[in-house]
Amino acid sequence: MSGYGKECADIVRAARPGSYKVGLILGSGLGSLADEIEDAVRVPYSRLTEFPVSTVSAHASELVAGTLEGVPVVILSGRAHYYESGNPSIMRTPLETLKELGCETVILTNAAGSLREQIAPGFPMLINDHINWSGLNPLIGEEDEKRFLDVSAAYDPEIRKALSAAAKTVGEEMHEGVYMWFSGPSFETPAEIRMAQTLGADAVGMSTVPEVILARFLEMRVAAISTITNMGAGLQATNLSHDETKQMAPLGAAKIKKILRQFLKDMA
Ligand code: HPA
Repeated sequence: MSGYGKECADIVRAARPGSYKVGLILGSGLGSLADEIEDAVRVPYSRLTEFPVSTVSAHASELVAGTLEGVPVVILSGRAHYYESGNPSIMRTPLETLKELGCETVILTNAAGSLREQIAPGFPMLINDHINWSGLNPLIGEEDEKRFLDVSAAYDPEIRKALSAAAKTVGEEMHEGVYMWFSGPSFETPAEIRMAQTLGADAVGMSTVPEVILARFLEMRVAAISTITNMGAGLQATNLSHDETKQMAPLGAAKIKKILRQFLKDMA
């Protein structure tokens, strides 16, 4: 542990005492879920030691603690990405904080580009595995033997089942697939997208994978859902842009919000 998780958790607990069950890390377009939290306290990241403030537009930078559908939750509204600092373990303190606050489960959301025609922009994709071909890992430099982490079931099968059931209950189509991490911030080339397809990826994105590895290292259960904002480079007629990501993310995000609410309702 880097040591700041407890310090940050103490600041959150001073503002709102209690223990929490689920941590939610919200990517582009999902920030508004933080406004739906009941009995909430909001702590700006700037007040939390070693919490990286995201420089990406469409990312707020605050922790919101409260309840959603009766479940005590902590929302991290906005995340820092590897490409903002070059540090793959940039999200370590935020994840340690969730662990210290009692969260047994972390659910991550992100915006991603699709590699499959059937997985269209505007729809959610439940991540069932990832490909990390970046050569980077947030556990590099870790000395504990725990660094040899088993990630063969990183995306918790039981939670995936519960999320799929929740999607069915609320009548939302949710695809499932493999997410491949690219560092960004430039988008992929069409040749890289063809490579990713050949390697078995269904979507590509610039986040989540290092956080999933850290969350598993901290022994939290993990699930992740992408909001598909575009087809990968070379698979759509228009150019890729962050504006498109910001414009499209809320479509899938509205569906993800419904699914997450139902998931929490089923859990309460
Ligand atoms: N590539 C990488 N990250 C992304 C994309 C993409 O096509 N869309 C949204 N985030």
